Amino acid sequence: MSLGRSMATVAYLIAAVLFIFSLGGLSHQESARRGNVFGMIGMFLAIVATVFGYVSGGYPTMLLAIVPAMVIGAVLAARVPMTGMPELVAMLHSFVGIAAVLVGISSYITPGIHVDPDQQLVHLIEIFVGVFIGAVTFTGSILAFLKLRGSVSGKPLTLPGRHLLNLAAIIVCVLLGIWFCTADHYPGGMLPLLIMTLIACLLGVHMVAAIGGADMPVVVSMLNSYSGWAAAAAGFMLQNHLLIVTGALVGSSGAILSYIMCAAMNRSFISVILGGFGTGGGSSASAAVEGTVTEFSVADTVDLLRESNSVVIVPGYGMAVAQAQHSLADVVSLLRAEGKQVRFAIHPVAGRLPGHMNVLLAEANVPYDIVLEMDEINDDLPDTDAILVIGANDIVNPAALEDPGSPIAGMPVIEVWRAGTVVVMKRGMATGYAGVDNPLFYKDNTRMLFGDAKTNVDAIRQGLQG
Ligand code: TAP
Repeated sequence: MSLGRSMATVAYLIAAVLFIFSLGGLSHQESARRGNVFGMIGMFLAIVATVFGYVSGGYPTMLLAIVPAMVIGAVLAARVPMTGMPELVAMLHSFVGIAAVLVGISSYITPGIHVDPDQQLVHLIEIFVGVFIGAVTFTGSILAFLKLRGSVSGKPLTLPGRHLLNLAAIIVCVLLGIWFCTADHYPGGMLPLLIMTLIACLLGVHMVAAIGGADMPVVVSMLNSYSGWAAAAAGFMLQNHLLIVTGALVGSSGAILSYIMCAAMNRSFISVILGGFGTGGGSSASAAVEGTVTEFSVADTVDLLRESNSVVIVPGYGMAVAQAQHSLADVVSLLRAEGKQVRFAIHPVAGRLPGHMNVLLAEANVPYDIVLEMDEINDDLPDTDAILVIGANDIVNPAALEDPGSPIAGMPVIEVWRAGTVVVMKRGMATGYAGVDNPLFYKDNTRMLFGDAKTNVDAIRQGLQG
């Protein structure tokens, strides 16, 4: 082995360890920044080691690809608002998917380059499986991107016999795989490879299309997992050990995250990874919500807060849109200075990405110890005097527990209606992400404070100071 290659192998090893530290760091808010730094150093090392240890020549062409890509990536990351992160992540997953497809096809076009002839069958299987996973990830992620952007309806597409269609597609792909592996050498297997790629692309679209609005968070983490497996498959095709290790880390951590989110949303993991298998996909039979709402003013809200000893705040996507977290942190400080117990209740899918609310509250320097998970605080709500729901909707919707026909039926929610008084702060009567009406707004102990969340929180802060 050349010196350059040996150094690259050592660098790969260090990068792999840094990626593991990175994942460890990302599991806690306090260490998340450090985790990101480990990940960035690991990736930098990996790129340098690959470019100088494994590639000889072709550097100008490589620079032509790498430099614009770095600029585009940096500009996109700097510009994307926090609320647009899931779309960006979905788009990035699609890149990994298409990369696996292209690596697979090019690796087939140049047979025998990466392996000795004895391992040809294994190499062909790697190519076929890698292209399959890559194609499903590619189109699935593009559809997820469009759904998250609102360019495509978030409603689940429930074609008759859709599970049979998925099964038939997988069986046809297995048969095409047998044809591909037993065909004469290149270009004999090109036709089954391309037909399978097309079917896998359609399968990716169909699997994501079958999943409804409120279950999208699970789809994003599932595609994250698929993109990891696609990268690992590309690693096998290129005989690149770091890509295999990194892909496996992303694939397995994404699978664990999907599992945790399914448990939090009371969804079956198998049903979600199979494209909504076993779910009704949401029903059209959800009960119509009727009643009268009771409006509240900022002054009423200030009075309520003054009279309350215990206050719980439930932030949602609207708080992120309004960027109300800093003003809210001031309100919390003012209330705590008056000796009141103030806590936050965080739903696992509040906002638009895992940990969205935690990140915003951390950014506003809200102390970690008053930010509680839904399961930690739900039982305390009957003893709570006042609840402020700020720009949240689906995550506090009682229909999830009370209406079996609702598309969000079975999803655990923060049971705010069990508290003394609930103030819901939003701009109007619009539905949330899942498009479901919310009976909470019509309950006797609910008060609606209409308007932009930041404007109203600012006014409440002034009221408390005055
Ligand atoms: P949503 O159900 O989407 O409700 C947000 C509410 O905020 C809307 O009803 C909107 O009502 C209000 N709003 C928007 N802008 C506002 C502003 N400037 N000021 C005040 N209110 C504003 O949010 P949620 O309760 O956080 O639930 C999250 C939903 O997103 C769930 O269905 C979840 O499944 C889905 N989702 C989550 C993720 C992750 S991983 N967290 C990813 C994808 C999808 P008005 O228009 O009337 O103001």
